[in-house]
Amino acid sequence: MFEKVEAYKQELKDIAVKSAEELEQFRMKFISRKSVIGDLFNDFKRVPNEHKKRFGQELNHLKSLAQERFQHFVVELEQNTGNQASQSIDLTLPVQPDQLGSRHPISIVANKIISIFERIGFSVAEGPEVEDDWHNFSALNFPENHPAREMQDTFFITKNPDTVLRTHTSNVQIRLMENQKPPFRSIMPGRVYRNEAISARAHCFFHQVEGLYVDKNVGFKNLKDTLYHFAKEMFGKETKVRFRPSFFPFTEPSAEMDISCFICGGSGCKVCKQTGWVEILGSGMVDPNVLKNCDIDPEEYTGFAFGMGIERIAMLKYQIDDLRLFSENDVRFLSQFTGADT
Ligand code: PHE
Repeated sequence: MFEKVEAYKQELKDIAVKSAEELEQFRMKFISRKSVIGDLFNDFKRVPNEHKKRFGQELNHLKSLAQERFQHFVVELEQNTGNQASQSIDLTLPVQPDQLGSRHPISIVANKIISIFERIGFSVAEGPEVEDDWHNFSALNFPENHPAREMQDTFFITKNPDTVLRTHTSNVQIRLMENQKPPFRSIMPGRVYRNEAISARAHCFFHQVEGLYVDKNVGFKNLKDTLYHFAKEMFGKETKVRFRPSFFPFTEPSAEMDISCFICGGSGCKVCKQTGWVEILGSGMVDPNVLKNCDIDPEEYTGFAFGMGIERIAMLKYQIDDLRLFSENDVRFLSQFTGADT
């Protein structure tokens, strides 16, 4: 029995532990309840009385040697593998945050436009992207075979030329006026389609926000007031605004709105092509024919409408010079907008 203790002592001195598995084998053999040392303790009662004292001392010595060696191997192994986790977890350290996505620049600009109009009482209306001729053109006072229909480079569905991909979100104005009673105060964000060759400056789909305000006694003054307010909220208090006469079949009179260039403040730069002004939106008083087409009496109600391209505003705001970037979903492009919406 004493020889056994001696042999184990020698084994403990000679043994080397190189891996977690070996450490576990060591633990099973010398430390666990079913270890060889445990077995020796069980044998204790069979030791003759005169040897009990010495055997007990030897056994306790063997036990502490085993524990010492075990601790030594634990530390050694952790240092070798660089894994000090069990010894030194600092629970107060801040975590590495997960990589979050960023909002798309089109959504950032659309949300900003929406929130400006919501604060002055406009609601958000939505409608279908696949539309019939009536809601996209006829009800909006585009005469049959009028060149304005071609002006918009429409995608027609081959099987049914009465069905188109909407070329603007004005279809939602018609659906709103057909289905509800005035007054109307809504904006219509959404995707629109035009049959254009894809390039840095044109794409076959893009996004718009249109607006419609119909009530009793609405005049051009209300249109200007609303759009002045929008321009200053969107582009800054110093922004100057000018209107140029224009033409749309569904508004009369019609005007395009320019703002003083928010990059150079009006002195001339690359973004405004040295003119000091950038074109932002189309607008006008709703043509009486459009109101009639929706069973609204133009003698009683008048209104104004406006529409703007979201990509155009995003390109100006972030100085993006290629329209295709918006739909390619390259994370190197998109990740630049992290935090831009706050
Ligand atoms: N629907 C027009 C377009 O797509 C924009 C617009 C809307 C113009 C309302 C005037 C009034 O170009």
